[in-house]
Amino acid sequence: MSKKTIALLPGDGIGPEIVAAAKLLLQALGDYNFQEYPLGGASLDAHGVALTPEVLDACRQADAVLMGAVGDYKQRSPELDRPEVGIDQIRQGLKIYANLRPIKLYSALLNSSPLKREIIEGTDILLVRELSSGSYFGKKVEGTEVASDNCEYTRQQVENIAHLAFQLAETRGQKFKVTSIDKANVLASSRLWRHVVNEVSGSHSGIELEHMLVDNAAMQLISRPRDFDVLLTENLFGDILSDEMATIVSSLGMIPSAGLSLHGPGLYESAHGSAPDIAGAGIANPIATFLAVALLFRYQFQDEDKASSIERAVEKTITRHRTADLVRLADTEDSEPKEALIVVNTQEMTDAVTSNL
Ligand code: IPM
Ligand code: MG
Repeated sequence: MSKKTIALLPGDGIGPEIVAAAKLLLQALGDYNFQEYPLGGASLDAHGVALTPEVLDACRQADAVLMGAVGDYKQRSPELDRPEVGIDQIRQGLKIYANLRPIKLYSALLNSSPLKREIIEGTDILLVRELSSGSYFGKKVEGTEVASDNCEYTRQQVENIAHLAFQLAETRGQKFKVTSIDKANVLASSRLWRHVVNEVSGSHSGIELEHMLVDNAAMQLISRPRDFDVLLTENLFGDILSDEMATIVSSLGMIPSAGLSLHGPGLYESAHGSAPDIAGAGIANPIATFLAVALLFRYQFQDEDKASSIERAVEKTITRHRTADLVRLADTEDSEPKEALIVVNTQEMTDAVTSNL
């Protein structure tokens, strides 16, 4: 079997640190070709654009793409793209239509969330976010007096993401339930969304479907997260709700994300940003990116053994080793004695997870 090629897009801020950590993890798991390319601010500095056509082409040829984080808040000339444009372009260029974000609470982190443990215990949700359309990609008008972002969805786009959400609810084998989140009481795009999701649900009879308005969902998700299984949502709502749900699992540093394409390589990344405030300090939490590597093995290479071995290694490691974002005051109270926890940097966390594989 020929060696698989993984394109690495470290990006900005803490991106290079967490991608370097993920590369070490990958090297501990097998023999892969790595090709590294700039994206976002790094690409703007090198080439004047947030993503070059050559990098996009190289990513298309790869077996999978692993991205760090993008955004550096540097002042650049107004004619240049913002670094984040690179994310939209790579997602669009690879035709990524679905973004899967598992919101799984590891029991070692029960006390690290700001939410009460009796509410969050047992949370295991899969957020399925539509990633190819909505206000991110609709027509934009940007003026000094008027500005707008058009939120458009086609039937085909909703069908694609809805089918995937129902299939995932089937294969997860948990509550066999899809909660579709929209704003159908106000938005026309949401009414089409709801109509098409209802139709698609007809061909997945084993799965219960519920609809929930996004404002209500924002409240229900952190009041009773255990009741949810698969969440199906459009692009912007999914972006917002994934950060909200990070409070359940204690840190955005615990949420990976898999971008799936109908054809070609997927785009694997963490759900967090580039954290410029701690960039270069060597203290970033690499776990979301490790868990993204697990998703890469699960969804791209169909290698469930490696995927679950990473997840088990992470679960074991965080019982004692924590990057600073995973330590809260409550950790040092009640059940877990303070001395049980070791606060580690990126390198130490990487060594610990790798040796627990
Ligand atoms: C995410 C991020 C991106 C998004 C930003 C950086 C463009 O917040 O992946 O959730 O909004 O999709
Ligand atoms: Mg986001």
